[in-house]
Amino acid sequence: INLRKPFVAGNWKMNGNLALVAEFNQKLANVKADSEIVICAPSLLLHAFETHSFAIGAQNVSHLNNGAHTGELSVEMLKEAGCGYAIVGHSERREDQGESSELVALKAKQCVSSGVVPIICVGEPLEVREAGDVESFVGEQLDALVSAMSVDELSKTVIAYEPIWAIGTGKTASPEQAQEVHEFIRGYFNKVDAQLAQGLRILYGGSVKPDNAETLFAQKDVDGGLIGGASLKAEDFISICQAAN
Ligand code: G3P
Repeated sequence: INLRKPFVAGNWKMNGNLALVAEFNQKLANVKADSEIVICAPSLLLHAFETHSFAIGAQNVSHLNNGAHTGELSVEMLKEAGCGYAIVGHSERREDQGESSELVALKAKQCVSSGVVPIICVGEPLEVREAGDVESFVGEQLDALVSAMSVDELSKTVIAYEPIWAIGTGKTASPEQAQEVHEFIRGYFNKVDAQLAQGLRILYGGSVKPDNAETLFAQKDVDGGLIGGASLKAEDFISICQAAN
C-alpha cells in the first residue's frame, strides 16, 4: 500500500501582491483537505500569510550560508520568515538564470541541512520528448541529486516532474504520459534505495487545472501537483487541493 501523503503546492512565480495574500488568508482559512498544502509565493509577500491551514514556501534559495552574496536569500532567512519548503531547480530558473543540475543539487542539500523541504523540479523540453530521450534527460537531472546527497537527505525532499512543454501552455501531459515518467523516476530511486523510492513524493506540474487534477492525481505514482497559473485563483487552487485527497 501507498502511505505517501498527497501534496499540492502552488507556485505563484513572479505574481501576486498583498491583496492576493489577504484573499488567500481568508478563503483558505478553513479549507478541508487531506493533502499537505503549500503556497510558494514571492519572498517579499511571505510575511503577510496568516492562515495555518497551509504552509508557505520560497521559489528559490541560495546554496550558500549567510555572508557576502549580494542579492541572495539564505535558507536560514527563509526559515525565519516561516518557510517550510523551497522550490529548487524550476525550469524557468534553469533557463533564465542558467542553473545547472549540480547547483540545483547543492541548493536542495542546503535546504535539507536546515530542515526546509526542497521541492526539486525536473523535466524535459519538447525536442527531447520528440526525440524519445525523456528518460536519459530526466535521469541525468536525477544523477546530480544522487551524487550530491545521501539517501537520508534524499528522503527529506519532494520531486516535481514538470515537462517544460506543458508549463503555462494549457497542454497538460496526459495521465498516461505523466504516470510513465513518474514510474521511471520512482524506479530510478528504487535502484538507489527501495525504502527511499517507496516514501518519495513525486508531484506533477504543467497546466494542472481543476478539471484535469483528479485523473492526474489518480495515477499510481503521481502524489500530487505543483500548480502555476491555477494557484493564483483561490477557488481553483482549493478544488485542486481537494482532488488530491
Ligand atoms: O511550477 C509550476 C509550473 O511550472 C506549472 O505552471 O501555469 O502550467 O500550472 P502552470
